[in-house]
Amino acid sequence: MAHLPPVARPPELLNMDKLAPFVDPLPRPPVAQRAGQRVVLPIREFMSQVHRDVPATRFWGYGNSVPGPTIEARSGEEIMVEWRNQLPARHFLPIDHNLMGAEKGVPEVRTVVHVHGAKVPPASDGYPEDWYVPGTSKTYRYPNRQDAAMLWYHDHAMGINRLNICAGMLGLYIIRDSFDDGLNLPRGEFEIPLVLTDRMIRPDGQLYYPVSQFANAPWLPEFFGDAVLVNGKLLPYLEVQPRKYRIRLLNGSNGRFYFLTLSNGQTFHHIGSDQGLLASPVEEQRLTISPGERFDLVLDFSDHAGEQIVLNDQTVRIMQFRVAKGKVEDESSLPPKLREVPRMPESAAIRTRRLTLEEVDYLTGEPAVHLLDGKRWHEPVSEKPVLDTTEIWELMNLTDDTHPIHLHLVRFQILDRRPLNTGVYLYQKQIVYTGSAVPPEPHEAGWKDTIRATPGACTRIIVNFSGYKGRYVWHCHILEHEDNEMMRPYDVVARPG
Ligand code: C2O
Ligand code: CU
Ligand code: CU
Repeated sequence: MAHLPPVARPPELLNMDKLAPFVDPLPRPPVAQRAGQRVVLPIREFMSQVHRDVPATRFWGYGNSVPGPTIEARSGEEIMVEWRNQLPARHFLPIDHNLMGAEKGVPEVRTVVHVHGAKVPPASDGYPEDWYVPGTSKTYRYPNRQDAAMLWYHDHAMGINRLNICAGMLGLYIIRDSFDDGLNLPRGEFEIPLVLTDRMIRPDGQLYYPVSQFANAPWLPEFFGDAVLVNGKLLPYLEVQPRKYRIRLLNGSNGRFYFLTLSNGQTFHHIGSDQGLLASPVEEQRLTISPGERFDLVLDFSDHAGEQIVLNDQTVRIMQFRVAKGKVEDESSLPPKLREVPRMPESAAIRTRRLTLEEVDYLTGEPAVHLLDGKRWHEPVSEKPVLDTTEIWELMNLTDDTHPIHLHLVRFQILDRRPLNTGVYLYQKQIVYTGSAVPPEPHEAGWKDTIRATPGACTRIIVNFSGYKGRYVWHCHILEHEDNEMMRPYDVVARPG
């Protein structure tokens, strides 16, 4: 990445190599209490211990856990959630007032909640400018007219979203339906959510968010911490039985991609992607998951009784599975066919939009910003798909980084990725492909809402804009990019005439 602003020297951080591994049991996020169709969730400050040997950490989150309480809903059953902002008046992470929407004079502490992956009316989608301040609340309506899938909720406040989520403002939202129930997948205690978030933690247990050397412009284009929290714990362990488990994995990190393997070489069976079940399971030894993505997985420990298995990232350990000895009856199944995913034909699209992802460097030495289609947040809305029509979006990534691109409101399919000559495109606005189109990986061939747009390539997605008219957003899910212009509004409009 070009033009990294000089990074201020971080304070002393927790030495992860000296921390005793696998001493805390993996917590399961609590399930949100419901009164009929209504859920109330306070957003507040609390302390929570990330490790046995580390003093409690201050978090800002939902309820009193990170991740917050899991909201459980049935497909087709509408629920209302009251999100109550009970946060303190001052932020504890470094705000950059140069960023859009975070200017001086705008209240420091504000929030608005978005359910990532949910199809909701615009007034309940958590538009970044719909933030509200401590002491106020908003009640949002979630129709849940969509297939079973694991969604997640998180803060979406303009210009400080990266800080609020880093502070702990995220949780899971699971939609279930009778089709998924009928597959006899592992359930109940054998269904385990895993939420990965990397953080920088000081020896006193407190969060650190890195800053540039410029006190007036602390924003940095990327954040990677070496302390990876799994459901809010560092290096936890989970006791499992020698049988199948359903693992629902979320990468809730600001910017880190994970490359996951199991220490015993065992495989993962993908059964679903962001927006629900795949057509059939896909077996893999290594998982690559980018920020915002969810993987629905089955792990089968039946041949591994008595083993201690570590879930590893490339460089860091994540957690440990301790498989009990002996044999157990496993009545669950891993069906060879899951849910039909009808491929959307390209001919269904009435329009193709070519949209660049680019990095703009300033000769003045200001840090580079990333833009969508060369435009900043405040420029007029340029993407106006018509309700209930289908479009192809060509995401032309002219940068050297992978950007996980997310569209609100919709689910989509990936058509292909094709390498291109970015120099020729940047300077002559001409497309010269340098290779042939590569179809999506099998585990990406289901319904998605967040897609890796790989560097120097055109990633094509096909999207049906169904649901509601109104204003939504699309953005990069690297939160540092999103907070600094790599987000754009889009409008779903009525059919003309
Ligand atoms: Cu995960 Cu616009 O959000
Ligand atoms: Cu979203
Ligand atoms: Cu990005």
